[in-house]
Amino acid sequence: MEFLLSNPIFFFTALALVLSIFSVQILKWKLSRRKKKYPPIAGTVLQHLLNFNRVHHYMTELASRYKTYRLLAPFRSEIYTSDPANVEYILKTNFDNYGKGWYNYNILRDLLGDGIFAVDGEKWRQQRKISSHEFSTKMLRDFSSVIFQKNAAKLAYKMSEIATSNQTIDMQDQFMKSALDSIFQVAFGAEFDNMCESSEEGKSFGDAFDNSSALTLWRYVDVFWGIKKFLNVGSEALLRKNTKIVDDFVYKLIHRKIEQMQQKENSSVTMDREDILSRFLRVSNADPKYLRDIILNFVIAGKDTTATTLAWFIYLLCKHPSVQEKIAQEVEEVTGMKKIANFSEFASSLSEDVLEKMQYLHAAITETLRIYPAVPVDSKICSSDDTLPDGFSVRKGDMVAYQPYAMGRMKTIWGDDAEKFKPERWLDENGIFRPESPFKFTAFQAGPRICLGKEFAYRQMKIFSAVLLSCFVFKMSDENRVVTYRTMINLHINEGLEVRVFHRY
Ligand code: HEM
Ligand SMILES: *[C@@H]1O[C@H](CO)[C@@H](O)[C@H](O)[C@H]1NC(C)=O
Ligand SMILES: *[C@@H]1O[C@H](CO)[C@@H](O)[C@H](O)[C@H]1NC(C)=O
Ligand SMILES: *[C@@H]1O[C@H](CO)[C@@H](O)[C@H](O)[C@H]1NC(C)=O
Ligand SMILES: *[C@@H]1O[C@H](CO)[C@@H](O)[C@H](O)[C@H]1NC(C)=O
Repeated sequence: MEFLLSNPIFFFTALALVLSIFSVQILKWKLSRRKKKYPPIAGTVLQHLLNFNRVHHYMTELASRYKTYRLLAPFRSEIYTSDPANVEYILKTNFDNYGKGWYNYNILRDLLGDGIFAVDGEKWRQQRKISSHEFSTKMLRDFSSVIFQKNAAKLAYKMSEIATSNQTIDMQDQFMKSALDSIFQVAFGAEFDNMCESSEEGKSFGDAFDNSSALTLWRYVDVFWGIKKFLNVGSEALLRKNTKIVDDFVYKLIHRKIEQMQQKENSSVTMDREDILSRFLRVSNADPKYLRDIILNFVIAGKDTTATTLAWFIYLLCKHPSVQEKIAQEVEEVTGMKKIANFSEFASSLSEDVLEKMQYLHAAITETLRIYPAVPVDSKICSSDDTLPDGFSVRKGDMVAYQPYAMGRMKTIWGDDAEKFKPERWLDENGIFRPESPFKFTAFQAGPRICLGKEFAYRQMKIFSAVLLSCFVFKMSDENRVVTYRTMINLHINEGLEVRVFHRY
């Protein structure tokens, strides 16, 4: 060593070497610092609160300025993207890095438990596997069709009364009731017909369920919810009370079902075991808490989404009477039925083959979801530092959201007529439905966690629309009303959809 340092040539060579290693290190560090760029800051989360009632308009404005942007929040950033390449990356390519995270789980678990909506990883994978198997069986398809047909006919009889008596009616409210009845019957079995509309207990379940969802959502804006829960005061005391009503009701149904199944087994009578609960009872070890979580997640998933979509659909058809006529015409052509006298009979004739032929209706419903997606924004939590395809970096713990509502309005994705309601954009030259990339049309999410009930939802929405539109004409009760949404997890029409109904024939 001494020799090396005492030799000037060696000394300077060594010095040069060390210096150059250092400078390469510094340069690399500088470059990587420069390379790591973060999405432009469009504001702080405070802006969301200031724009609360028009938050999707506000986010659409930001999205048309920046494909990907960032809002500053305490301790983290919230990143919003409407870039299909980024969407594909977070929902599919690097799926494992963008989950619900502990943050969402903590907020959701009192109501949703360990259900599919609240969990990630192995817990999610296992439920996804069983559920997607169940959802693809012919059994569930046929069973659910019968229930949708029955409930659609029931609604048609009600509409007929409204039309005859020249009253107005809130269609969103009607669709909510029908959707709750439908998902409930599919989940628990046909014997729970009328459960939610006519029984006192069923009604209080419905209310408690809605209250619980709203109060759970409130946790996202109330920073004190943890303390309030601990002290059991205010909104948290209400949440506890409402969740208890929900739980008691669901556990009662589960225990009743288990009893029924045991009885039936002994008496060797074959029974209809097509409902979701019965099927899960057979494949899982029947832990009531696990069943509760599964079933409640399906009710959450299937109730408001289809109901609000149908309400926006009817709204758009009131605004576009020519589309309304075209759908009625298509249903008439496909079914060969005109002047329908018996709604039940007509509804029962809407088999899967028949629905499959209604391509224009399919396009019109899809176009509704493009403009009014039932889930307008959907967020994930980033679990380790990462860089998105557009070059912007995200940090561990950041929230990363894709925005179906804003994306549906981007000219860069849909062309200059992005804001126009135009079912034809979904049809090819032969009038056949042409799907769009799920990373552009994100209403059902995409990737491994894509909505599990998509086909199920289309079946339900098509049966309801075909029955209602071939029998009635809908008009807004107030043509001049400015219709907008109410800011919630799902995109509800603010103050409902009051319409006038006319017999078509
Ligand atoms: C128009 C109707 C519907 C729309 C727009 C819709 C949309 C969505 C979206 C955006 C997600 C992702 C939510 C998330 O990030 O966790 C989702 C997930 C899901 N949906 Fe739907 N949905 C609809 C109807 C239904 C129905 C009727 C069911 C079942 C009865 C259903 C079952 C599910 C389930 C189980 C998941 C969770 C999937 C998973 O995490 O692996 N959906 N849906
Ligand atoms: C129905 O009600 C509207 C407004 O209430 C009224 O203008 C219309 O004349 C009524 N039509 C019939 C057939 O009674
Ligand atoms: C649920 O909310 C509604 C409307 O806000 C209210 O009338 C009802 O009493 C609530 N139910 C419970 C059990 O808190
Ligand atoms: C059904 O049979 C099993 C044994 O075969 C018995 O343990 C059970 O109590 C029976 N259940 C009913 C409801 O009869
Ligand atoms: C409608 O048809 C069904 C059979 O498909 C029948 O049971 C029912 O009585 C009919 N209803 C009316 C009002 O004719």
